Amino acid sequence: MISSIFKRVKQFYRAISAKLTADDQIYISTHLSAQEQKLFFAMDVVDQYHSLKVAYTIERFAIEDKQGIDREFLIRCALLHDIGRVKGDMSTLQKVFVVLISAFFPNFADKLERNGSHILYIYRHHAEIGAKKLQEIELYRESKIIARHHSPPSDDDPRELKLLRIADDKN
Ligand SMILES: [Fe+2]
Ligand SMILES: [Fe+2]
Repeated sequence: MISSIFKRVKQFYRAISAKLTADDQIYISTHLSAQEQKLFFAMDVVDQYHSLKVAYTIERFAIEDKQGIDREFLIRCALLHDIGRVKGDMSTLQKVFVVLISAFFPNFADKLERNGSHILYIYRHHAEIGAKKLQEIELYRESKIIARHHSPPSDDDPRELKLLRIADDKN
């Protein structure tokens, strides 16, 4: 529990000081189409930064990988996996609140969501919200992976989904 709190605090500290470099910008424009970039940049800079880190972790996995993953596809999934969360959806403080209560008081979080909390809804359903946006631009394969990135692991999960979850968890 303590190490989990520590991890969350560290994530927030990093997130608050997040800034994209010129190299990051080049990386994004290399891997995403104009339409995809629109979705990427609609996220809060904190989420942009997090998604980039996830993509960089995927790059490391791809180097070590012996089974031939679809690298470009997985990088696109990494960069777009949290697009269900959009700039202005919630303040940093609200974000801290939803992350902490979802992690440590899930029953209370359930109750708040049932009572119509918008920020909790977005936080907990951003996978499906993002997946829908990807379907609208015909990224069906990416949409399927992203829809399930916070679902409990199951035996028939595609390998790409497993790798995305691991990379997401590390960042
Ligand atoms: Fe997510
Ligand atoms: Fe994420």
